Amino acid sequence: MTEKSTIAAHLEGARRRSLGLLEPLSDADLVAQHSPIMSPLVWDLAHVGNYEELWLLRAVSGARPIHAGLDDIYDAFRHPRPDRPALPLLGPADARRYLVEVRSRVLDVLDGLPALDAGAPPLVADAFVYGMVLQHEHQHDETMLATLQLMAGDGYRPVTPSPPAATPLAAPEVRVSAGPFVMGTDDESWAFDNERPAHVVDLDAFWIDTAPVTNAAYLTFIDAGGYADRRWWTDQGWAWRTGMGAEHPQFWRPDGSSWWRNRFGWVEDLPLDEPVQHVCWHEATAYAAWTGRRLPTEAEWEKAASWPGDGHKRRYPWGDEEPAGLPVTNLGQRHFRPAPVGAYPAGATPGGCHQMLGDVWEWTSSDFEPYPGYRSFPYREYSEVFFGSGYKVLRGGSWATHPTAVRTTFRNWDHPIRRQIFAGFRCARDD
Ligand code: AVJ
Ligand code: FE
Repeated sequence: MTEKSTIAAHLEGARRRSLGLLEPLSDADLVAQHSPIMSPLVWDLAHVGNYEELWLLRAVSGARPIHAGLDDIYDAFRHPRPDRPALPLLGPADARRYLVEVRSRVLDVLDGLPALDAGAPPLVADAFVYGMVLQHEHQHDETMLATLQLMAGDGYRPVTPSPPAATPLAAPEVRVSAGPFVMGTDDESWAFDNERPAHVVDLDAFWIDTAPVTNAAYLTFIDAGGYADRRWWTDQGWAWRTGMGAEHPQFWRPDGSSWWRNRFGWVEDLPLDEPVQHVCWHEATAYAAWTGRRLPTEAEWEKAASWPGDGHKRRYPWGDEEPAGLPVTNLGQRHFRPAPVGAYPAGATPGGCHQMLGDVWEWTSSDFEPYPGYRSFPYREYSEVFFGSGYKVLRGGSWATHPTAVRTTFRNWDHPIRRQIFAGFRCARDD
C-alpha cells in the first residue's frame, strides 16, 4: 500500500464512490437536512475535501489554506449536526469544485514526496496519513448512506444485484476456549490509534453465536412482548424505549401479522433470514437478556474473529487475504442490504463464526476506552475525546462499509440509542 500509484488509485476509488452515491440526488436533496442527527449531505461532501486538504496538503507539505473560513465551517467539533444547515456552506457545485482543486494539488504533492516506506517520518511512514484520509472518506460515505436511508420520501432507490442465498449453519453457537490472545495491532500500517498497541488479553471460555441475530429471531422477541417487558431492559434502555415509544426496529412497518420494511424508499417484505439491522444497543441488550444471554465484550468478539488458536492473529475472519474479489463478505454497498445468514461460508472463521465482517455492525457490551499504552496519533479528536463518554463499541463493519475501512481490529463506536447506523448484533454467554 505504499506505492504512490496504488495510493492514487485508492483515493480515486473513494472519490468515485462518494460522487456516485450522491449522483442521483437533486441539489435540493443535497442541501436539505434530512434528520437533525445527520449533516446535510453537502456538508459531508465538502468536509471530506477539507479533511483531505488539512492532512494531505497542509500537514504533509505545509501548504497555505485554499479558501479562508472553510476550516471553521467543516470542523465537526465547532458545529454540532443540528447547526450545520445554518452555516454558509459551499453549495453542491462549489463543493465539487473544491474537491477537484484539493485533489489535483494532493496528487502533485504525492508525486514530489520521497518514498513512503517504513523509514519515512511517522505521519507518512507506510503511507499512514493517506490511509487515514482514505478511510475517513469511506466512513463519511457510510454516514451519507445512513442519511440517505433516513431521507424522507422515495427519491433514492438503488437497484443492485441480490446477495448470495442463505446456507444452513452447522451450529447456532460455538465455544471459544479459555486463554490469552493478542488484542489490537502493532503491525497493521493503516490501523487507527485506538486499535493500538497490541496487548495480551486473557479470557475465560465463552460461547458466541455463529451468525448475527436474524429478523426472524428478533420477531420472536417482539411477538413474545419483549418491548413491553421491563425485565429485559436496563434502566437507561427502558427510559429510551418508553420515551421513544419504540416497538420494533427502525424502518419496520407492521401490517396485521406480517411486516414490511422500508429500505432506501423500497417498501418490501421483511426478509426473515437477514441479520436484523437498525436496532440500538438497548434493543440488542434487551433481546440478549430475553434469551438468557448477553452481548459479547469487544475482546470476546475480536478473539472469535481473529484468533483460531495457532498463535497467528488474522487480519480478517477467513485469514489474511484482502476481501476484494473473494466471495467472503458483503461490504462496499454491493447489495445495499445485509446478506442472509450463511451466505458466505468461505468467509467464516476456522472456528465456525459466519459474517463477522460485513452485513451489519455488531454491538458489543463494551464502552469505548483506550487500550493499555494508548497514545493518540496523529490527533486527539479522532478517538481520544470520545473515550469514557458512554459510547458503546461496534465491530465488524456493515454492507455499507468499504473493505479498506475495516479489519478484525477495527473499532467503531456510537451512542447506545443510535439506530440509523447499519447495526445488528450476535449474542454470547459464559461457559
Ligand atoms: C469512527 C465512525 C465513529 O463518523 O463519527 C469521521 C469517524 N471521524 N470523521 C464518525 C469519523 C471523523 C467516526 N466513527
Ligand atoms: Fe469527519
